[in-house]
Amino acid sequence: MDRESAAKEIARLRAEITRHNELYYKKAAPVISDGGYDALERELRDLESRYPDLAVADSPTGEVGSDRDANFPSVAHSRPMLSLQNSYELSEVEAFDQRVRKELGRTGESGDPVYSLEPKMDGVALAVRYLDGKLFVGLTRGDGRQGDDVTGNARTIGDIPLELGPDWQDAFPEAGVRMFEARGEAFLTLSRFRALNGEREAAGLDVLANPRNATAGTLKTLDSNEVRRRGLSVFFYQLFPLDPEDLQTREGLPFFEDHFAEMKALGALGLPVNPFLKKASQLIEIETNLEELEGERAGLDYQIDGAVIKVSDHASQVRLGSTAKAPRWGLAFKFAAEEAVTYLREITLQVGRTGVITPVAELDPVELAGTKVSRATLHNWAEMERKDIRVGDQVVVVKGGDIIPKVLRVLTEQRTGEETPLPAPEVCPVCGGATGQQEGEVALRCLNPLCPAVVAGRLRHFASRNACDIEGLGGRSIDLFLELGLISGPADLFELQRSVLAALPGWGEKSADRLLAGMNRAKVRPWSAKIFALGIPQVGVTTALTLARHYPNIELLIQAEVEDLADLPDIGPIVGETVVSFLASQKGAKLVDDLRQTGFFLTEELLPPPERDLTGETWFAGKVFVLTGTLQNMKRADAKAAIERLGGKVTGSISKRTDALVAGEKSGSKLAKAEKLEIEILDEEKFRELLAEAGETATEDDD
Ligand code: IVH
Repeated sequence: MDRESAAKEIARLRAEITRHNELYYKKAAPVISDGGYDALERELRDLESRYPDLAVADSPTGEVGSDRDANFPSVAHSRPMLSLQNSYELSEVEAFDQRVRKELGRTGESGDPVYSLEPKMDGVALAVRYLDGKLFVGLTRGDGRQGDDVTGNARTIGDIPLELGPDWQDAFPEAGVRMFEARGEAFLTLSRFRALNGEREAAGLDVLANPRNATAGTLKTLDSNEVRRRGLSVFFYQLFPLDPEDLQTREGLPFFEDHFAEMKALGALGLPVNPFLKKASQLIEIETNLEELEGERAGLDYQIDGAVIKVSDHASQVRLGSTAKAPRWGLAFKFAAEEAVTYLREITLQVGRTGVITPVAELDPVELAGTKVSRATLHNWAEMERKDIRVGDQVVVVKGGDIIPKVLRVLTEQRTGEETPLPAPEVCPVCGGATGQQEGEVALRCLNPLCPAVVAGRLRHFASRNACDIEGLGGRSIDLFLELGLISGPADLFELQRSVLAALPGWGEKSADRLLAGMNRAKVRPWSAKIFALGIPQVGVTTALTLARHYPNIELLIQAEVEDLADLPDIGPIVGETVVSFLASQKGAKLVDDLRQTGFFLTEELLPPPERDLTGETWFAGKVFVLTGTLQNMKRADAKAAIERLGGKVTGSISKRTDALVAGEKSGSKLAKAEKLEIEILDEEKFRELLAEAGETATEDDD
């Protein structure tokens, strides 16, 4: 390449990388994979080193991307908040190790460097500062020099203590520390992420794309109550004192001897650290640790995108130093993205209970991250057009950050000309009614409130587990009742006659009685479940519980005013407004009226036991589980899903926080570790017994 074309290419790459930085850091909506981004950056770095005279100070290769947001005051970082050099191949780790050895003079006899290895959390960097044991500042990375002050939001995160225990100073090797900073990564656990999306779906809101973006968006939310409700977590990985004298006398010299001591101190302060922390000196040990971590990855309740390898000894860190962008003592090793290429056969349309029409890609089945994928969401038409997705395309699907696989991009170079885009439908595919968009929304909706898909969706929601939990009423029965004109809304369910039900095809007296019993039980469901069953937009399980605690029955709830609601924990003015306007709307008022006449509402509604949410009624609720070994009668994924349905959490490795280990055949080191820590151990039989007691029959749908 000659100098002129290199200059052009450099300009193009800089513009492109800057655009991706903006999308990733500011909009939390990246359009390329991390690997794709790194490839661009590598190309640019390469050109800049070949043509040093074309390099400029403000090139994106020399800067940390910025997530600065004008809605938050900006505060200077105590020391730069850098990024990490990425690597994808073991040969790059080897090159790193060799450079470290050379620069530290550690060749031959002079001793091996000690490395630490820990998961690279796929979240958002967060710094917190404490003064005299009290949290006083929370900052995002911003541009690495100045961060956004998100203290109000940081204060709502359960993992970040507002006040440390009385002996907190003992965590430091020297006396007299008054002020310190801890840095870590904020993230959403997968179970929290799934629960939030479940609620959002039920409330007719757009689902959050993936945990990382949801975390970035959450930290920059202006409503702290909403931040609290989302339930972020944090793992810390850096700690240093901030006292002015200390900064002066030490001139940036590290406080702890090495990374392990620093992590231990974080733990002693009550700041959570990731339980996976390994020591390694030789490349082969690093490799083994990387393999072990990758093996644990699928079982973790949070997303990691690789490992971070650090020279542990702090004096060596200082000697190795940093570039403007990244420390020279650390390296991120990124795991391969979980991507696959397949053929997009068809795009089908789904109509949800709020009328939102979602395009779904029907794919040639393909293996992705251990599961067969044959469908992927295309979100909406704006997204489909942006990615130019057409029927007949070869597409790249990813599971990466997302729970539901999605189409990342199209292999346009493989097009034959036969591919056809699918225009947004002018009429609803289910009822033929008009479609349209609500102001400020990207989603396309069926506007007909009587659309059978909408009506059926609402009924399914009413009958669902967290709502009325009506046994014997599955999706197929609902469709049948609607088709026969037996019902048109939830209230009609209470009027169904035993003789009519028993005579339905495939029914009989037994099924009829089962449903009628289920309907009777619906009337004594906890009040919060009934509120959730109403399907008020934006009211998920947690919000319903708050409403139930403050308004003991329906008559008081319909009298609530926006201002009163906005004062409740976890509810802001926006949700308050939605609740009031739903209950006052023709549709909402009719639903409440009709249900009232069936005796559904009680003057004294039942509250779920205090401090428990709707999923919190089982032995599993709130407990942390680890699964290991081979289960004979169920898949691990099903076991995990069952635990989560019952309110428990599944993580990948044993720690003091683990409540129980489910151990199948051939359990190895985890079993030994659990025994050592005296953690409850469940064999498969006992586990299944507990599941059954909690109402999990390990089988399917009601129909
Ligand atoms: S150490 C120079 N340890 O990855 C910064 N970072 O790509 C030292 N990250 O800015 C960072 N997990 O936000 C470190 N275990 C871990 C990490 C971690 C995630 C993030 C962090 C950092 C970014 C760099």
